[in-house]
Amino acid sequence: MTPPTPAAALAWAQALGLARLDAQVLLLHALGRSPSDRAWLLAHDRDPLPAACLAHFAALCRRRAAGEPVAYLTGVKEFYGLPLAIDARVLDPRPDTEVLVDWALEVLAGRAAPRVLDLGTGSGAIALALQHQRPDAQVLAVDASADALAVAQANARRLALPVQFMQSHWLEGVRGSFDLIVANPPYIAADDPHLPALRHEPLGALVSGAQGLDDLRRIVADAPRHLAPSGWLLLEHGWNQAAAVRQLLHAQGLAQVQSRRDLGGHERCSGAQQPA
Ligand SMILES: C[S@@+](CC[C@H](N)C(=O)[O-])C[C@H]1O[C@@H](n2cnc3c(N)ncnc32)[C@H](O)[C@@H]1O
Repeated sequence: MTPPTPAAALAWAQALGLARLDAQVLLLHALGRSPSDRAWLLAHDRDPLPAACLAHFAALCRRRAAGEPVAYLTGVKEFYGLPLAIDARVLDPRPDTEVLVDWALEVLAGRAAPRVLDLGTGSGAIALALQHQRPDAQVLAVDASADALAVAQANARRLALPVQFMQSHWLEGVRGSFDLIVANPPYIAADDPHLPALRHEPLGALVSGAQGLDDLRRIVADAPRHLAPSGWLLLEHGWNQAAAVRQLLHAQGLAQVQSRRDLGGHERCSGAQQPA
């Protein structure tokens, strides 16, 4: 019988179809170690594993093989260097969204004490990253989901970041104007063939009408009334929606309409500036 070592456990997980990195992170979680301890796994790859750890690891691997995000299984995801507590009430924050945060920080550079609004905050990923990078900012984070807001507020408390939260249907309950409005709204078409693979994440965080554009349209229509002069609206969207979103931004009379590419080279963010 193969001895239950980390090497054998990882080989078993890969045979089940797991990516090596996912298997390593899940094994570290089952061992009660940090996900950044991959060097430890290599150094101990022939050591015997405790039976309880092995049973826990096997259960996690089966759930991962059935499509659950690793972040839901470990309860944590690093976003822009911040460890966020994540569960099935919120979207698993994606590394591509860090491109939107980079862009947001660029447009905020040189503005003292900027007012920032994050629409559809989910876990709080964008709002918390911006507040962490810009302690002088006044950040308001909005979501329609009370469940999502509970996750985001708990993250803010744990990270001691003074983001304000509000339950609102996009800008309906929001008052005042902002130097930056940022949003990663739902943008997947209702009949998108990739949706079954995302079945563990909240549908309300993913789907937005027949073309995936309903929420983007709504936000672009309402945001200009809440943008300060020279304020920016920055939006994440699907890989094939950049031209449509730029058109929406132009139609609102916004300036500097442009798109940015994600880590895979796709135009995944578009934005524009309120005239001065
Ligand atoms: C794609 S997730 C983004 C979550 C997070 N900002 C991120 O980047 O990981 C979209 C978020 O928008 C929220 N949302 C959906 N419809 C909304 C609405 N009408 N008003 C406000 N938030 C909404 C969802 O609850 C979800 O948290």
